[in-house]
Amino acid sequence: MNILVLGSGGREHALAWKLKKHQHQVFLHPGNDGTLQENIPNFGEATTIEEISLQAQKRNISLVVIGPEALLAQDFATHLRLDGFLVVGPGKEGAQLETSKVFAKQFMAKASLPTAPFKIYSNLNEFNQGIKQGHYPKVLKLDGLAAGKGVVIAQDLSQALNFGESVWKKNLFGASSHKILEESFISGVELSYLGFCDGKHFVPLSSSTDFKRVFDGNNGPNTGGMGAISPSPYFNSELEKKISDQVLTPLLHTMRKEKLDFRGILYIGIMIDSDQNPYVLEFNTRFGDPETQVLMLRIEEDLAPILIATARAELDLAAPLKWSSQTGIYVVGAAPGYPEKPALGSPISGLTPTDPNTQIFFSGVKKKNVHLLTAGGRVLGVGALGKDVHMARQRAYQRLEQISWDGMHYRKDIGLTL
Ligand code: GLY
Repeated sequence: MNILVLGSGGREHALAWKLKKHQHQVFLHPGNDGTLQENIPNFGEATTIEEISLQAQKRNISLVVIGPEALLAQDFATHLRLDGFLVVGPGKEGAQLETSKVFAKQFMAKASLPTAPFKIYSNLNEFNQGIKQGHYPKVLKLDGLAAGKGVVIAQDLSQALNFGESVWKKNLFGASSHKILEESFISGVELSYLGFCDGKHFVPLSSSTDFKRVFDGNNGPNTGGMGAISPSPYFNSELEKKISDQVLTPLLHTMRKEKLDFRGILYIGIMIDSDQNPYVLEFNTRFGDPETQVLMLRIEEDLAPILIATARAELDLAAPLKWSSQTGIYVVGAAPGYPEKPALGSPISGLTPTDPNTQIFFSGVKKKNVHLLTAGGRVLGVGALGKDVHMARQRAYQRLEQISWDGMHYRKDIGLTL
């Protein structure tokens, strides 16, 4: 089958790599110079949805998998569906579960999902009054996509007031009207629970946990994700049952009732508290990055049939996926200054020879002459499987240590429970 994956990061590289392994003709657009070097072709200069659709028609593409949320927000899915493609990714309406924190939270409330209590503010006055009440820390989330910068854990009233000012007075997120969601802070450990969802059914991927902070021990600012482990060390059959009963069943019921058209990947971010109870933190409406890199290493069969079942809203007919019993680890190498101000343009060395026990996925790289240079905050990552977390970590880190660029940094504790 001819398949198009849209996006340019490690997540999309992993999806394309997996599909290619099962003999599909895969295009990755725009991809990056690392994925081109791995013989995964792109569509050249195409930028608009019309150009991409035309190129896809020329190449007899049947199935399109949309990686980044920004493309979902621009309604690429609806456009491509209308052009006759099978598409994995919700249209703009379903994507609101990720693009609007307020929509998502109201949806959680309608479905009576376990989630932190919340309030919604539409202007600075309301906000300044409301946040004086209740306990700190509080989680404050700007409604809408903000490239990871729209969420603040306010430890006290002054931090909360600063956030309100930055949104409504300093217009740090633009001058348009904004909403802020206030949530009570729930402590615990995080689980990424992803699955194929067609609005009526949900077929879970294996569990995973990503490591969001930049430094070891979960210190420093949040990033897009510095690594991941699958299965998640925090997951077990008791929790699986709670998630199924308390989250999935009411969520699907509400999706059906509200007639929410959702044909894509639903990523449920879950906090597990000290009593082993799940709380829904957020939804994403796409594959996670870097969770996908480690999940693709662990899936034992072709991914295309379940992607097609998702796109056709026939997940009730899909067989459960077969997973390797091995542990998967993925460690991201980042550019100096990431996440605040990454310094780019350094040559990357140590990419050859390849190692059969590990897999490199490229995120932010660019070719100059014959060399790959760093071109994004997250440059690349190394994934490995092992019979246990120790072996998977040993393999991934051994390979990563052979790779270098100026100021390269990565977490040393990926896969360890903290
Ligand atoms: N790993 C977090 C995300 O994909 O949003």
